[in-house]
Amino acid sequence: MSSSRIPTPHINAKEGDFARTVLMPGDPLRAKFIAETFLENAVLVNNVRGVNGYTGYYHGKRVSVMASGMGQPSIGIYSYELFNFYGVENIIRIGSCGSFDKDLHVRDLILAQGACTNGNYNAQYELPGTFCPIADFGLLRRAAALCEDAGLRFKVGNILSSDMFYDDANSGMRWAKMGVLGVEMESAALYANAARAGKKALCICTVSDSFLYPEENTTAEERQNSFTAMMKIALELA
Ligand code: HPA
Repeated sequence: MSSSRIPTPHINAKEGDFARTVLMPGDPLRAKFIAETFLENAVLVNNVRGVNGYTGYYHGKRVSVMASGMGQPSIGIYSYELFNFYGVENIIRIGSCGSFDKDLHVRDLILAQGACTNGNYNAQYELPGTFCPIADFGLLRRAAALCEDAGLRFKVGNILSSDMFYDDANSGMRWAKMGVLGVEMESAALYANAARAGKKALCICTVSDSFLYPEENTTAEERQNSFTAMMKIALELA
């Protein structure tokens, strides 16, 4: 159900402008690329701060795509407003991540079953313990099946949503000891917002850089254009 609190401080779309499912890359240019490459009759529904949001059709199914920006505060704002004010039911983050798992190479996929964090986003819920942000199982199960059918290399498991890209303590490998597969910067806040709103979320990440195999790392341009396998999985899911 939508709310009268639209437009919001960060989204100037009208009621009903977003589809039930929103694909959410970090980068606004990637959102534009997806809309222009994969969607039919895509309409621009948001352009506040250059965070362009589009709604169009993929194989006849209405779907939206809008960037989250970088970090938990940013995806926290956009996913909150979409879930709570625009009636969005599903948000599928399609991002990039660093990997510290020996089985994962650049361009492999991670389906983030859970998202650990070194951030403080979940402190707002004032729980008497540690909240465990998890993906929606239905979305996760279908995404895994689609990856298998497409013959993609992927792993399902925990990731770290870090508040630091430049981490002075270089703590990645300590998370790896706990079986955490890789690091990005958004999913824990997305999963918490979904839980709080009673909605569904999943993060699919393409490994863009590896802590173990640094010689494989991709450039920003490759990140923008070459992650089509992940985008197609997310579009099929929608
Ligand atoms: N750290 C955090 N976020 C990321 C990384 C990383 O190494 N690579 C891609 N997103």
